[in-house]
Amino acid sequence: MIDMRSAVGIRFGVALAALALLSVLGFHETAMAQGSAQPPVTFTKDVAPILQEKCQSCHREGYMAPMPLVTYEESRPWARSIKSRVSARHMPPWHVDRTVGIQHFANDRSLTDEEIATIVRWVDSGNLHLTLKFLGNMQEGKLRAVAMAMEKVAGATVSPRLYLGPVGAFPTINRPRVLWVGLGGEVEALRELSTALNQSLARLGFPRETRPFSAHVTIGRVRENAAPSVLRQLGTALGAVFVPPIGFDGDEMVLYQSILGPGGPLYSSLFRCAMGVTRPPA
Ligand code: HEC
Repeated sequence: MIDMRSAVGIRFGVALAALALLSVLGFHETAMAQGSAQPPVTFTKDVAPILQEKCQSCHREGYMAPMPLVTYEESRPWARSIKSRVSARHMPPWHVDRTVGIQHFANDRSLTDEEIATIVRWVDSGNLHLTLKFLGNMQEGKLRAVAMAMEKVAGATVSPRLYLGPVGAFPTINRPRVLWVGLGGEVEALRELSTALNQSLARLGFPRETRPFSAHVTIGRVRENAAPSVLRQLGTALGAVFVPPIGFDGDEMVLYQSILGPGGPLYSSLFRCAMGVTRPPA
């Protein structure tokens, strides 16, 4: 019934990948239970210290492990693999059964349950994308220049701290066609980020956005041929959805490609860079 943002052919866009505790309409349970803004997990503040203490003795340039896990850029591509290895307690390698015998060792580099939970939350949360700019079709030759422009803008910007607000629909909640989630928080900073990106991409020949920036995320579209009864049901369901004010920081900017397939568009990231200015710990 709901078509995710559809596009024809291969299209490109730049998104702010956000550490939101939400995967479209599947709300994160702990956030629901608490019903209040949860502090976002960030790489610099929460994950990097764990990697430094527990992983980098091996995962660094020139040491035994296959890849360094020092910077954000080095770690992010391994996120899924990190999650599965740490949840299974295969990493860090520590061949002592924690449930029997002596429980405390000097140099114990195994992870605490809390550290595992933090890493898992970081990995799981990288699933909300706010599209900052659609690029449309693009020649491959432009990729490098676009990546450089992104790096420059992202590197000079503190990622806005945002909150997901209420769910709504255009044109009205009773006749929903386009479903969206509103945004609150540092929306002005998000607007500035979008303007800066637009300006530097305009220099590369991508037309500037003429529509005013709007602070909501499109989460789906309703098919043209949906029956009125279905629309009414959907409207009622949407009206009843309560979105807890979930806080998130966008922690990276992503250049993505979407290819329309039979099951809807497939997104793949071509380039990603971290937002540059690190926020001081709250
Ligand atoms: C004692 C050294 C050591 C420590 C400490 C260590 N690792 Fe590893 N890690 C390795 C080695 C060696 C491999 C390659 C062999 C393998 O895949 O098991 C590896 C492989 C991995 C892989 C699999 C890479 C792939 O190919 O998918 C991941 C993910 C990983 N480590 C994450 C971590 C994380 C996260 C930590 C810290 C919580 C950590 N490791 C701590 C030595 C270490």
